Amino acid sequence: MKYYIKTFGCQMNFNDSERIRGILQSIGYEPAQSWEEADLILLNTCTIREKPDQKVYSHLGEYKKLKEKNPRALIGVCGCLAQRMGQELVQKAPVVDLMFSSYNMHQLPELIQQAQAGYKAIAILEEPPQDEDQLWEYPTVRDNQFCAYVTVMKGCDKNCTYCVVPKTRGRQRSRALQSVLKEVKELVADGVREIHLLGQNVTAWGQDIGLPFEELLYRVAEVPGVERVRFTTGHPRDLTESIAKAMGEIPQVCPHIHLPVQAGSNRILTLMDRGYTREEYLEKIDMLRYYVKGISFSTDVIVGFPTETEEDFEDTLEVLRRVRFEQVFSFKYSPRPDTPAYSMQGQVPDEVKTSRMAKLLELQKGILAEIALSYQNTEQEVLVESSEGGKLVGRTRGNRWASFPGEEHLLGKLVKVRVVKSRPFNMECELLQVLG
Ligand code: SAH
Ligand code: SF4
Ligand code: F3S
Repeated sequence: MKYYIKTFGCQMNFNDSERIRGILQSIGYEPAQSWEEADLILLNTCTIREKPDQKVYSHLGEYKKLKEKNPRALIGVCGCLAQRMGQELVQKAPVVDLMFSSYNMHQLPELIQQAQAGYKAIAILEEPPQDEDQLWEYPTVRDNQFCAYVTVMKGCDKNCTYCVVPKTRGRQRSRALQSVLKEVKELVADGVREIHLLGQNVTAWGQDIGLPFEELLYRVAEVPGVERVRFTTGHPRDLTESIAKAMGEIPQVCPHIHLPVQAGSNRILTLMDRGYTREEYLEKIDMLRYYVKGISFSTDVIVGFPTETEEDFEDTLEVLRRVRFEQVFSFKYSPRPDTPAYSMQGQVPDEVKTSRMAKLLELQKGILAEIALSYQNTEQEVLVESSEGGKLVGRTRGNRWASFPGEEHLLGKLVKVRVVKSRPFNMECELLQVLG
């Protein structure tokens, strides 16, 4: 029996898919090369904006053809759209045989059995079940041998007025420290050298179990064999001075942080209920720069939130100029059903969002070109992750892609390189030294 998984959305969803692969392989499924040869197709969905929703329906339309060739084949939908839509999704897309969400991935083996017996196996729960920690007993199946995601927290207790995540992923639940460390040790034994801790609000980890997030950083970095630690996504509100200090102090923690600002106008930040002002955000950036030498930043921005004026938008651009992020993920505001911003007065027309977005991208292009130049001729540490067209590819500690000519035996090694030609999204380098 073969499976095929199509994943949309964030890194947590990708990590969920890696876990689902582990579950499926533990009950005898093997990966299929394409959906056409699968006996089970799963769409792990995202519903953060309207576009990903539409993609799911168009994929389902395509995958329907599988049943003509293979009538016993099963089609399943999991992830955030499944959680948000529930039964309604099956009414819209009757081709779906099984459905579950991030709450009950561990029940997948039973759901498959039910679906194979000819029942619609729909298990969308109101709340995460008591036994959801059973999930951690399954391994993940990863494509990247050397860098691994580890989900340490589920859900989100913030209530940003535009966002569906608290509804699709539930309240904040921190994974127990020992459970995280056990997985980290297993990953290291499997050859992993970089650990990327994941949570929708990862800096809030521990709040519900009486531990501070920096404790997790120290303990993960202490595991022998862990060379690098990253984490996503930090929320500015939970980013404390102790976390910044820990980031600067722990050699394994990479000097890079993804810290979504969303908007630069205090009026819009209040409407979004983000819980910080532009000034507070910028103070956190300064604090990180103070404690973490050479830190680089990336961010998320929403363009065209209800009532956003040109002046508000200009405040967002000003934050980009001030911070000089290395990467800005910008999104046009997309109204999501059952969120407070959905019914706010003053929705911004799409043309306005488009033109503001173009302005933002133009500004960021210039900033990134200058940042890229500043890396020219510098020495960087790279963890070699893959080889492509005769070149080795990896990321620097600051999370920039680097490539250089080299042999495959260097895969998985930390090396020192010099940047020969620095482009916005890639740096061509030469090898100086193998660090180990
Ligand atoms: N927990 C993270 C964000 C997770 S969602 C945080 O608080 O920063 C990933 C990104 O999608 C968000 O940072 C935001 O920029 C964007 N996003 C979320 N809801 C959106 C919406 N309704 N419209 C447009 N972008 C949205
Ligand atoms: Fe959504 Fe806000 Fe939670 Fe991030 S912090 S997941 S944007 S509600
Ligand atoms: Fe999307 Fe769910 Fe992630 S809505 S962004 S897959 S948490």
